[in-house]
Amino acid sequence: METVVSGIRSTGNLHLGNYFGALRNFIRIQHENRCFFFIADYHSLTTHPDPKLLHENVRNVLSEYLGAGVDPDTATLYIQSDVPQVTELYLLLNMHAYVGELERTSSFKDKVRKHADNVNAGLLTYPVLMAADILLHKADKVPVGKDQEQHLEMTRRFARRFNNIYGVEYFPESMPCDFGSGLIKVPGLDGNGKMGKSEGNGIFLIDSDKDIRKKVMRAVTDEGPKTPNSEMSEPVANIFSIMKIVSAPDTVEYFTEKYNSCEIRYGDLKKQLAEDIIACVAPIRERILEIRSNDAYLSKVVREGAEKARASAEKTVSEVREIMGFKKF
Ligand code: TYM
Repeated sequence: METVVSGIRSTGNLHLGNYFGALRNFIRIQHENRCFFFIADYHSLTTHPDPKLLHENVRNVLSEYLGAGVDPDTATLYIQSDVPQVTELYLLLNMHAYVGELERTSSFKDKVRKHADNVNAGLLTYPVLMAADILLHKADKVPVGKDQEQHLEMTRRFARRFNNIYGVEYFPESMPCDFGSGLIKVPGLDGNGKMGKSEGNGIFLIDSDKDIRKKVMRAVTDEGPKTPNSEMSEPVANIFSIMKIVSAPDTVEYFTEKYNSCEIRYGDLKKQLAEDIIACVAPIRERILEIRSNDAYLSKVVREGAEKARASAEKTVSEVREIMGFKKF
């Protein structure tokens, strides 16, 4: 049995990227593995969330995990800040993480470009906290979307470095799990880039059918193919990418043929895509809304999850302390 660890930041409601890049895979593998899934509320602090909203965000993501089908009786589902051992491992790993390599991380460079007014040390050491999350339970596998690939590479580098420095075979090489088809990147509906929580280009798991239809019908396209079998522009290719994820293969084939023979009507393509997204999202949304109002259930889940996660984390941190030379008087 392998150990699986993954998390999602609590910075807003979850969208199709989070679902198809991560959450759906959590559900696929939870029964055959020892799984730890958490809500990364410490990671959400890099953008300074309003304290009045912090708890509500965690609560929303928790209901979304459960509504999507994470089974807390099988997987350990917890809130990152309920397991303070992660902060100790983060501190210890930081001693062997170099500023130069952290500055070269793509996600850091991206943040510096976009938010030059808030380049805090938490952002710089974000990959170290992520490595601490993963190594805290000595994960073999980490289900994530394509955008997290570099962070996982860094986790492996920190693990190897720790093993080399202390002459141990302690931390495993945590690998992304891609189910054989490569890591997924769900694009946004605005013609470029990936679907994100704050990019204004997302379809959320709690969106109503009406909102989904509206958003999909507004998706950016182009003037249509002029010659048979022409290459798709990025916005149109993005719509097809989402369709490949949510729709049946013969639907994708039908519209691809229409595109290749220049007979495609983007309105029909979008209508079909919206209905296929609704078929996937609507049942999840209903469960999320039901679970969200069940305070007693939510607090039982996080209490039990925290206990199980703390037991695993405590074991790792005390072994790491021993390896590094801490001794009791
Ligand atoms: P976050 O919260 O941005 O995203 C959570 C998960 O959703 C995936 N994802 C996507 N996948 C495909 N297409 C997209 N458009 C898309 N957008 C998001 C992400 O790849 C991720 O798997 N740093 C992490 C959270 C984290 C973590 C960890 C993950 C903290 N510690 C330890 C794994 C292990 C993050 O910000 O994800």
